[in-house]
Amino acid sequence: MGNTIGVMGLGVMGSSIALNMASKGEKVAVYNYTPDLTDQLVQKSGHEEIYPYYDVQGFVQSLQSPRKIFLMVTAGKVVDSVIQSLVPHLEPGDIIMDGGNSNYEDTARRYDELKVTGIDYLGVGVSGGEEGALKGPSLMPGGDEEVYEKVAPILTKIAAQVEGQPCCVYIGPKGAGHFVKMVHNGIEYADMQLIAEAYTFLREKLHIPLTEIADIFETWNQGELKSYLIEITADILRKQDDKTGLPLVDRILDKTGQNGTGKWTSIQAIDNGIPVSIITESLFARYLSHKKEERVPASTLLAGPEIQNDDLDQDVWVEYVRQALYMGKVCAYAQGFTQYKMTSGLYDWNLPLKDIALIFRGGCIIRAEFLNTISKAYEAQRGIANLLVAPYFVEKTKEYQVSLRKVITEGVMSGLSFPSLSASLSYYDSYRTANSSANLLQAQRDYFGAHRYERTDVEGSFHTNWK
Ligand code: 6PG
Repeated sequence: MGNTIGVMGLGVMGSSIALNMASKGEKVAVYNYTPDLTDQLVQKSGHEEIYPYYDVQGFVQSLQSPRKIFLMVTAGKVVDSVIQSLVPHLEPGDIIMDGGNSNYEDTARRYDELKVTGIDYLGVGVSGGEEGALKGPSLMPGGDEEVYEKVAPILTKIAAQVEGQPCCVYIGPKGAGHFVKMVHNGIEYADMQLIAEAYTFLREKLHIPLTEIADIFETWNQGELKSYLIEITADILRKQDDKTGLPLVDRILDKTGQNGTGKWTSIQAIDNGIPVSIITESLFARYLSHKKEERVPASTLLAGPEIQNDDLDQDVWVEYVRQALYMGKVCAYAQGFTQYKMTSGLYDWNLPLKDIALIFRGGCIIRAEFLNTISKAYEAQRGIANLLVAPYFVEKTKEYQVSLRKVITEGVMSGLSFPSLSASLSYYDSYRTANSSANLLQAQRDYFGAHRYERTDVEGSFHTNWK
């Protein structure tokens, strides 16, 4: 009969996906470039139907036709060389799926390259980390829809399930799946940074002890902010260092790493005129965090205000912070979903925004209660220009925008750095500005470079001799 699917690349994510598939009744052939990881997985797999192979040919030949191969290897050149190693053993109609964090343009290129051989290719965004991969990730498959249909029974089975629905839906052609995963990560950066800024206010401005901040996050996680990132933040704040017994978070060096997907989100947005300032500020906050060696001396050189120990009513201000965080989150998701909408138009992808929100409700890192609301907004108005103008969010932001202003103002007057909360408010205020100062910029451009301008009262293109 042969194995029903093959998994190549048995690091943390690959072995978890293989175990997930086996636990759902698939017969899984597994292969890794080095045999040690294959052996480790076999030991871990117990009674699951995991079948190890130590050469590519044997691995491929063990699969039922059309062969289905799921790659979980490091994004970049490795994907190309793995594909090259597979191609001589495959036949037209066989399907390769790339589940790594590949650049969506690479995925489109690989799709085109394989098309001429008759081998089908899907770029599958996978989110959820190790636990998600094992128990149910969110999956974003892109490529030919009829090819997706052939693997859908497996993908929908291994995906997270929310209210009986799999967190897996066909996204669109070629690199669309990896594009959606990329922007997911950009939103993830913004979400994380906004949470960090809310935490900073609670800790530095309101002087709330860490364990109480953990309690606050736990309480927030029972309401409209309910999300995986809020949940893990509460856990993180409670964690003590084994060595010192002190909060572990205070022992972690304040330099944030990144693997490139957030950066690609910003680059793609900048290249295509898509304003994703919160996502980009969150990326820059990571970059600035790496300037630790400069920040430390600067902290003694550069003046700032003293943090005021004024009597802010804790309960009142904790609620302001909660509302400010929610506002920031709405603006960040509005930017990410605008990036989906605009790019979808650019490539004619017809991205299913309502369904993307639905598959983000489970499995993935940005899973959150309010994705239901986002999905409903797109269900009600498919072509809505921006999430901010969806009736639900119009009402919400009417109520919460004041809190965002208060938190930023208080924080900034105390010298706290709030790049992403501030970017959220700027985005919100810029978006609701009917007549902006962009006219002055146009005049400046025309003054020094004869770049011409349009008028508000007459059609056409104009130049003025300004002197
Ligand atoms: C996911 C995550 C994952 C990503 C990590 C780290 O959805 O499971 O997005 O794909 O690799 O979150 O990303 P950074 O190293 O860029 O922070």
